[in-house]
Amino acid sequence: MAPRFPSAWLDELRQRADIVQIISGYVTLKRNGHRYWGLCPFHGEKTASFSVDPERQLYYCFGCKAGGSVIQFIMDIERLDFQEAVRFLADQLHMPLPQLEEDPDYQRRRDQRDRLLAANREAAQFFHSTLFTEAGKPMLDYFKRRGLTDNVIRKFGLGASPAGWDTLTRHLQGKGYSLEELRLCGLTVVKAAEPATESSPAKPQRAYDMFRNRAIFPIIDQYGNVLAFGGRILGDGQPKYLNTSDTPVFNKRLGVYAANLLRKERHLERVVLVEGYMDVVSLTQFGVPGVCATLGTALTAEQARLLKRFAPKVYLGYDGDSAGQNAILRGLDILQAEGIPARVLDFPDKLDPDEFIRRDGIEGFNSLPAISPETYRMRRLKEQHDLSTQEGRTEYAKACAAILKNLEPVELENHLQELMVQTGFTRDVLLAQIGATLPKAVPQAPPKRESFKRSAALNGEDVRAEELLISLIGTGRLPGDIANEEDFTDPLLKNLYVDLTRGRSAASLVEEQQDENLRARVSHLLLTPPSENTDQLIRMAQDCLNSMRRRRVEERIQTIMRSINTLTGNDKIAAMTEVQALTAKLNRFKSAR
Ligand code: CTP
Ligand code: MN
Repeated sequence: MAPRFPSAWLDELRQRADIVQIISGYVTLKRNGHRYWGLCPFHGEKTASFSVDPERQLYYCFGCKAGGSVIQFIMDIERLDFQEAVRFLADQLHMPLPQLEEDPDYQRRRDQRDRLLAANREAAQFFHSTLFTEAGKPMLDYFKRRGLTDNVIRKFGLGASPAGWDTLTRHLQGKGYSLEELRLCGLTVVKAAEPATESSPAKPQRAYDMFRNRAIFPIIDQYGNVLAFGGRILGDGQPKYLNTSDTPVFNKRLGVYAANLLRKERHLERVVLVEGYMDVVSLTQFGVPGVCATLGTALTAEQARLLKRFAPKVYLGYDGDSAGQNAILRGLDILQAEGIPARVLDFPDKLDPDEFIRRDGIEGFNSLPAISPETYRMRRLKEQHDLSTQEGRTEYAKACAAILKNLEPVELENHLQELMVQTGFTRDVLLAQIGATLPKAVPQAPPKRESFKRSAALNGEDVRAEELLISLIGTGRLPGDIANEEDFTDPLLKNLYVDLTRGRSAASLVEEQQDENLRARVSHLLLTPPSENTDQLIRMAQDCLNSMRRRRVEERIQTIMRSINTLTGNDKIAAMTEVQALTAKLNRFKSAR
């Protein structure tokens, strides 16, 4: 388990990390008033709408509404998760990580990890430089035969493992790595010594290279760590690809091939996920941006979440054979469960992406339609049903209805038309079938912070008034005690109010918001105070409070009046007394205006 950082330590990190200085490493900032401005690194723009507030240690982009603390900035720009971003900053600030000192076991594992990653790095360098020597000639010829340029070979750090038994192992031992470390990396196979038996003499311990006489694809993660290798056989033969099994530094279910290159691409609209190493290399050489591959497994939820960090959409570009097509259906399920918009690239003639782009070029690739998941699923269902029979059409219509039930009306419309033509059922019948498949309670994932969802009954004007107050208090324009907790009805704003008046910093409150939209909303509130002077502001705040409080009184009166006829005796008298008092209060509000 990775440690959780103590909040006092995190506060110190936030204090030491000067947001202006850190962001200046990525964006050219100019001071204007009490803020700094620059071109937003998160969306393309020509005029500066990206602002950094040194006082509150927050940034906010008025264009794309990205915003947050310094940790959030590092998460977004370096594509790191929270833990990783904190480590990244701590490292820059030379702050020792607290848990590492307390947890010797964690420290030991980290040390080992560092050693194994360093060994992998040495191995990758060895493979890559071997490619350009005599021993690597067959592999270089192989890559050339497959049409790869030197440029792309360098970009992916492709390499050659020599034909000898233990060339790499000896090389790395010479660099000080133990056999045990090389075994843990999956680079060296170690056979234990065997004592003599009646039939055979004693054998000493033997060690040989895992990858021999293969073309090498290093697997590098988004931070540039070399995690593992894939080695392709040069001709026919088995296995075609040899891959590093899981090791202390590599879990093939967590990463994707070419994550190191993905990280460097900004403003990607979509990631293209393919099956094979060669597909990634080849598409990239032809100029397709954002290509990566799973590592010989079906797409996992972890990988889907990783892809989401790089682009808002995922295109599945698996092989056109039947294995690839089934993998697409499973992949769509995973992406859908993670709430990631997906499209399918359906390669014709059972080609894989590499074969296709060699045949049809980048133009061919770019003119491939990006198919919606529903269209793709319907297409597959159509192959499985005999639409020339009534029974086949009925089953097909039912299966399609189940697919279409989650669509928005406008999207649904296109598919409905198609389905009417294919099955001969009327629109009403199909709609009824789609409706019938709707489950009683829609099994949608619950929102992360249910309590923060604004209640539908809440008056929009009230929320705006509450927002203005939070903005004024959060930006230090007005003291917190001008209002009180009960004044807020919107749960998010109420929580913000409580936290702000307890002295929490705006930066830590923004950071706390897990949801991107909430984070944008909170950073907007805490960074963009109205520009009016103090007298005007106080009047605005009082107006806000008045209208909020008045509405609350009105609501209370209405609630009592609705139940008053069901009350008797003392209860009724108490209720009427309360209504009288509330009405008097209401009149005071009105005369105050
Ligand atoms: N794979 C593997 N082990 C194998 C075969 C395949 O790990 N024995 C993985 C590799 O990651 C490979 C991917 O599955 O890149 C796709 O396999 P396949 O379609 O068979 O190979 P291609 O990618 O087409 O490879 P090539 O073009 O080099 O033949
Ligand atoms: Mn191929």
